[in-house]
Amino acid sequence: MSVTESSVKFDPFGLAFRNDPNAWYPKLFEASPGFMELDGVPSAYVAKFSQVRVVMRDPLRFSSVKPKGLPGMERVDFFNGQTVMTYSDAPDHLRLRRVVNGAFLPHRIAELAAPAARIIDELLGQVEEGVSIDVVAEITKKMAVKLLLGEFLGVAEKDWPIFQRFTATLSLLDEVRPGGEKPQAYLDAWKVGAEYCREAVARAGHEENRSLIGVVAQAGGEGGPLSDGEMMGMMVLLFIGGVGTVSPTIASSLLNISRHPDVAKRVREEPAAAALVLEESMRLDPPVTLVMRFCTRDTEVDGITIRGGTPVYTMIGAANHDPDVWPEPLRFNIDRQNLKDHVAFGYGVHTCIGNAITRLTVPLLIAAVARRFPNLRVSDPTAALVWETTPRSRHLGSLRMTF
Ligand code: HEM
Repeated sequence: MSVTESSVKFDPFGLAFRNDPNAWYPKLFEASPGFMELDGVPSAYVAKFSQVRVVMRDPLRFSSVKPKGLPGMERVDFFNGQTVMTYSDAPDHLRLRRVVNGAFLPHRIAELAAPAARIIDELLGQVEEGVSIDVVAEITKKMAVKLLLGEFLGVAEKDWPIFQRFTATLSLLDEVRPGGEKPQAYLDAWKVGAEYCREAVARAGHEENRSLIGVVAQAGGEGGPLSDGEMMGMMVLLFIGGVGTVSPTIASSLLNISRHPDVAKRVREEPAAAALVLEESMRLDPPVTLVMRFCTRDTEVDGITIRGGTPVYTMIGAANHDPDVWPEPLRFNIDRQNLKDHVAFGYGVHTCIGNAITRLTVPLLIAAVARRFPNLRVSDPTAALVWETTPRSRHLGSLRMTF
């Protein structure tokens, strides 16, 4: 069967959906794969868990490369037109993934356990029992930046503002309309970052450097070196892909242990349960809510044809709430048999390269908080949670908790 417009009027980038995604999921499941016109472009979405996995595991039929000039894509071109891993197909995808792969090998990731423990100790050491703080500003963002930008990427603290300022300009892209120019503030911040990358890679080529910048500087042969623009694209991808996801995941994990004292107690008694808290928190509130794919040829998904050339909004957040796979999807339950099957890290060839870093370090923080602060609670349980969204993400903007 071929369909051009479905009964559900749906704009995955629109605020009506972004502000209350849970309310939309049941109707999306019913009509999925669904069809709509966005910025004049016939588009499709998939929301069911099985459909999302079908799309994500088939890069030949569902490409990650954004077609040039497609209206609407200006809003998600964070990388100034550079080819980056997440928006590329073979052979570029493999080439870029190989360049950094050395930094993600299990023994290299294991080396992050010690600095992560030190950072956690330092951050929690500043928390006073009984005092209310915004955990997003005081703990989760600091943890993610120190660990990922500092330790993993190897950027000195004095240079962190280069990437923080650049990231702050990304929300300006949300306002760009089809065919519109990129905001000057964004372009200026990109230029400063690309310059930094050129110098950092050159420096790292002459010294023993175990950070990601060091790995790239020393990558010859396979994959080959990156151009300055590609390096900046890579750094931005790793920075926003890492900090922008790890920080909110810690926040929602802390929220969940505070709301479920039985689970916090279990983590105190059995620290390995912190990993289960992480997985279920990611399923419930995945920071990346959708990824884009572009259908390359007419393809049937559950008996419905998606036409070649159609952008496909692949709804990770919805898939993680599919009741056929996750009974009582809104319930926080760390004893689900299929706990780790969620698609919050994606699925298929683009599965998150940083998933092992997240799975190693975030449980350390959850376990440390559960152990040191048994009275952790949301400071004002009557206040509404502050969710912030972008076209692709959803996270707690702030969260006041009393320790
Ligand atoms: C809670 C933490 C994280 C979440 C929820 C998350 C989510 C995701 C998702 C959904 C994808 C798939 C994108 C797609 O299919 O188009 C992805 C890919 C990616 N992630 Fe993560 N991520 C996390 C942590 C990290 C970290 C810590 C890093 C780096 C240090 C990172 C770097 C990347 C990169 C480079 C890709 C592209 C992989 C590829 O295209 O082959 N992520 N991530």
